[in-house]
Amino acid sequence: MAETKRKVAVLISGRGSNLAALIAAAGGERYPAEIALVLSDNPDAAGLARARDAGISANAVDRRAFKTKADFEAALDKALRDAGIKLICLAGFMRLLSAHFVATWENRILNVHPSLLPLFPGLDTHERALAAGVRLHGASVHFVRAEVDAGPIVAQGAVPVLPGDTPDALAARVLSVEHRLYPLALKLVAGGHAKVVGNRVTIEGEKLAPDATLLVPSD
Ligand code: GRF
Repeated sequence: MAETKRKVAVLISGRGSNLAALIAAAGGERYPAEIALVLSDNPDAAGLARARDAGISANAVDRRAFKTKADFEAALDKALRDAGIKLICLAGFMRLLSAHFVATWENRILNVHPSLLPLFPGLDTHERALAAGVRLHGASVHFVRAEVDAGPIVAQGAVPVLPGDTPDALAARVLSVEHRLYPLALKLVAGGHAKVVGNRVTIEGEKLAPDATLLVPSD
């Protein structure tokens, strides 16, 4: 099985808790992906140390070291290709990728976003969910398109919004869903069970399909 694992790079900017969840899942013998490379645009990202502790090659590609966004993305692209990467997982990566980069890696970039897309793309999703008064909130893993937090959805997990919730409390509940959801979604994609058809993702295999929906009851 080991030789059939798809090589995945995780792009981060910060603490890397989703990265840690992906590393843990990919440690499983039958998991179809290997986390082969971690890149951060922020040299101080705590996630770089997490990756190195796990024996994974982890490098900063500092945006400030490049004159243009195109140069920065060319460096990312080279690092990815040199490592034989087949799939990219964005996990708290705070840079917008250009349409050119996204097209180059079409249907090979995943992102985790802390809302039930298409609701609340962008920042401050938990504050906005509370302000909107939604009863359910959650996380989405989707293929990346040039538009922010848009693209075919692979998997979603929902949590209740509870009376008295603060943005932090809600964020913590959603984050624990992200940590379960992202490994499930990557398993579906890396294993070849999730395919992009138009604007949607089709999941093959009856037994795998429920993995794409997580409903987490109130705690
Ligand atoms: C997560 O909430 C993710 O959904 C968002 O940024 C956060 C990253 O957290 N895109 P971490 O670095 O994985 O801990």
